[in-house]
Amino acid sequence: MSTRHFLTDLDLSAEEQDRVLNLAAWMKRNPYAIKALEGPQTAAVIFDKTSTRTRVSFAAGIAALGGNPLIINPGESQLGHKESIADSARVFERQVSLIIWRTYAQAGLEEMAEHSASPVINSLSDDYHPCQLLADLLTVREQVGSLQGRKLAYLGDAANNMANSYLLAGVTAGMDVRIAGPEGYLPEERIIGAAEDRAALTGGQVTITTDPSVALAEADVVATDTWISMGQEDEKEQRMQLFGDYRVDTDAMAKASPQAVVLHCLPAYRGAEITAEVLDGPQSVIWDEAENRLHAQKALMAWLLVESGRADEQTVE
Ligand code: CP
Ligand code: NVA
Repeated sequence: MSTRHFLTDLDLSAEEQDRVLNLAAWMKRNPYAIKALEGPQTAAVIFDKTSTRTRVSFAAGIAALGGNPLIINPGESQLGHKESIADSARVFERQVSLIIWRTYAQAGLEEMAEHSASPVINSLSDDYHPCQLLADLLTVREQVGSLQGRKLAYLGDAANNMANSYLLAGVTAGMDVRIAGPEGYLPEERIIGAAEDRAALTGGQVTITTDPSVALAEADVVATDTWISMGQEDEKEQRMQLFGDYRVDTDAMAKASPQAVVLHCLPAYRGAEITAEVLDGPQSVIWDEAENRLHAQKALMAWLLVESGRADEQTVE
């Protein structure tokens, strides 16, 4: 049985994504029933960038699965500076059951996975934030039901990790994903092509536009993210000007379905990418979304361990 990793949203097929989301919903109702990390086994949670939600949800989730979270903060290990990623992977795989890594380059995660028999989970890279999307899709299922055909509008920095993940995970779920941002800040062609290929299998749809109204028309879900991702702090002034037409405010929400729900992965900058009125308003489901990081990631970890032959099937049924 070969090791399954979760490095991008495309690492789960549509059927697998559905199974993980079903499991997450079940685990939310039965939080301590599955002990896929009993022993306790250790799961390494490594951060090259800062975090609140990812740190808390993985630490709590690993403990609830019967495991021991080993949190490694930025600058605390030899990984990537004094020691190669491949050599680090060879050390980790002999001692921990999961490697969860928040880093910059996607290539680093790929190198880690190539050299690790323990499953590797991307907990945010410059290119993707696939764990966040499992939580977001779980939240949308709770709020609006079946994901197939639902219209999801993402506005703002459409070249960042969240835009890429909304596109790829959204079409995997069969959603009609509309991504809107200014020229020069739209998803790369390789991401759009991959999304179109996945959409052809699932009945999903892909729209990339510079017009926020096109994205918002009758949208069931309106999502945004910070205009200044980690590592882009030096571009703050320029970015605050660039994305002004893509702010999620009451005017934008008036173009979506009246029942639309609002997502934001957080942390949020009220008055920049989203107004306080919308973020703290009745259509916002952001606190459910933040809580669902825990349930979605527990399901993902249990599923990867079973699929990789590292936990018994019956532990997740
Ligand atoms: N949404 C998210 O990943 O939050 P943190 O950066 O706080 O982990
Ligand atoms: N796009 C943001 C997401 C934070 C969770 C960033 O990468 O900083």
